[in-house]
Amino acid sequence: MNRDDFNILKSGVIYFDNGATTLKPKVLGEAVADYYDNYSSNIHRGDYTLSSKAEQKYEETRYLVKDLIGAKKANEIAFTSGTTDSINKIVFGYFRDHLTEGDEVLLTKSEHASNLLPWFELADEKKLKISYIELDDNHEVLIENVEKAITLKTKVISIAHVSNVVGDIRPIKEIVKLAHSKGILVLVDGAQSVPHLKIDVQDLDIDFLAFSAHKMCGPTGVGVLYGKEKLLEEIKPIIFGGDMNADFNHNGERIYKSMPYLLEAGTPNIAGVIGFGYTIKYLMNIGLEKIHDYELELKKYLVKRLKEIKEITIYNENSKSGIVTINYEGIFPQDLSIYLDKYNICTRAGNHCAKILKDEIHIKNTCRISLYFYNSKEEIDRLIEVLKNPNIKREII
Ligand code: ALA
Repeated sequence: MNRDDFNILKSGVIYFDNGATTLKPKVLGEAVADYYDNYSSNIHRGDYTLSSKAEQKYEETRYLVKDLIGAKKANEIAFTSGTTDSINKIVFGYFRDHLTEGDEVLLTKSEHASNLLPWFELADEKKLKISYIELDDNHEVLIENVEKAITLKTKVISIAHVSNVVGDIRPIKEIVKLAHSKGILVLVDGAQSVPHLKIDVQDLDIDFLAFSAHKMCGPTGVGVLYGKEKLLEEIKPIIFGGDMNADFNHNGERIYKSMPYLLEAGTPNIAGVIGFGYTIKYLMNIGLEKIHDYELELKKYLVKRLKEIKEITIYNENSKSGIVTINYEGIFPQDLSIYLDKYNICTRAGNHCAKILKDEIHIKNTCRISLYFYNSKEEIDRLIEVLKNPNIKREII
């Protein structure tokens, strides 16, 4: 779908690393260039027309994000540098003050480093206990396993909506309902879901959500931190400086702004946030439901075709997203990726930053094919043709 919107595809590259970052449509480059060429200026500081225009465009993106995820108010949205930054700000800005010694944080072993390491750090600092929800035989999260893992000490569940390796869609609505019935808050890592699914934070009743622009056709260096207004009233900044303060004096007395500016210290990535607004409109015009349906159709086709190759193991054929994780018997995953690159096919090999998933699947490294709406069945056919090359092992050696 929409392949003509992506200049890079004209080079013939087959891009299957959308879990890492997506390609960028022309509209992004145009919007960013327009800002730099025609109204480059700072926001929240200038009493002149250029600055007002930049500020208006920047704030428009906040409203677009609000509509995209179904938030109640725009002040529930803060711009960050990405999912990692958002999760760190939530963990250290909110949970540091709301958890005490002995409290339990519930995670899964298939979380990305960005949803594990901040918690490990806070657990060391506050003497918290980290526990894991058991994964089922398909490495997926079942609501009954969430229920089993909850104890009287569980205070927060922090979980990816879609895992970046297994690609399973977690039952977030049920998890949140169960968690709330026990007074537990839920932080959702939406890095791999918001770009591919229609999300409604009010319907899901999510407490906090983090995601990145660059995994949804947007610029690198821009992310979103969403939180319910009531919770964000108690969040503290972990970065201090310009624009987040209302006033201060030489005695160190200071007054900080309220949300969302409280969490946006310093000059933000203005061009990026403005460009992100254009890519949100672009995605909304295509339709997130349509994107998801198309990805599922592509995934089914990919799995069907991969099964023609007996040397290939697929680790997640049942998951309902466009992520397919494989190994080719006798070929180290990184070598497979390098081999595919010779044919202009981009995939990701390794542990995909989910370094403790190997405890569950007993495989340290895999090769990941992650799809997006601009991928096609013809590209999948080419991948299969290259994987069926009878000389594959000789070409790798
Ligand atoms: N989190 C990104 C990935 O899964 C980088 O590849």
